[in-house]
Amino acid sequence: MTDVSTKAINIIFNEARTYSRWLNKPVDDDLLIQIYDLMKMGPTSMNCCPARFVFLKSPESKERLKPCLLPGNIEKTMSAPVTAIIAYDLNFYKKMDVLWPHVDANKIFQEKEDLIYKTALRNSSLQGAYFIMAVRSLGLDCGPMSGFSSEKLDKEFFPEGTIKSNFLCNLGYGDSSSLYPRGPRLDFDKVAKII
Ligand SMILES: Cc1cc2nc3c(=O)[nH]c(=O)nc-3n(C[C@H](O)[C@H](O)[C@H](O)COP(=O)(O)O)c2cc1C
Repeated sequence: MTDVSTKAINIIFNEARTYSRWLNKPVDDDLLIQIYDLMKMGPTSMNCCPARFVFLKSPESKERLKPCLLPGNIEKTMSAPVTAIIAYDLNFYKKMDVLWPHVDANKIFQEKEDLIYKTALRNSSLQGAYFIMAVRSLGLDCGPMSGFSSEKLDKEFFPEGTIKSNFLCNLGYGDSSSLYPRGPRLDFDKVAKII
């Protein structure tokens, strides 16, 4: 007996796949907002919420992304209804007066480049994972990607220099006829121990 139905667990984990080919079905902007509104509830350290998102939908925005992609990721990205840039804000702590008002975040983070970077990368990666689960739980499919030049992408989309890309995620309704058999996962006893 669990609080989440077996159906939901299967949709989010057991039956969810990574897609490279997409059905010809658009994704409403409203759904992107719903994805964000679910994702944002996932936990981050001191509620710092460093992830930032840019949703590329228009052909013009996709063209701007194209030169940043590794060749193997071009077709799947250009054909996806939406590509999300999941990024992190190195100035995330400047919003913590609202997000975590009972501490002085400036004191903790200001001029501590290594702490800022590690906190932003760790927590935006977590938020990226919550994002994938939110996408799946709202009936969409996704294709996350790290095969791109972050230097080129950051220059093109975040020229001010304080926001850095973490990974990309294509979104849409996946074409299940294009799937290969799923890769195996490692068993518990190969990677975990209870001590
Ligand atoms: C952070 C991240 C980066 C990835 N980068 C790429 C990529 O650049 N190109 C690609 O084709 N797939 C990429 N993938 C897809 C993975 O290979 C895929 O999610 C994994 O093999 C699991 O596949 P499954 O969900 O179908 O079981 C990436 C996945 C993640 C989570």
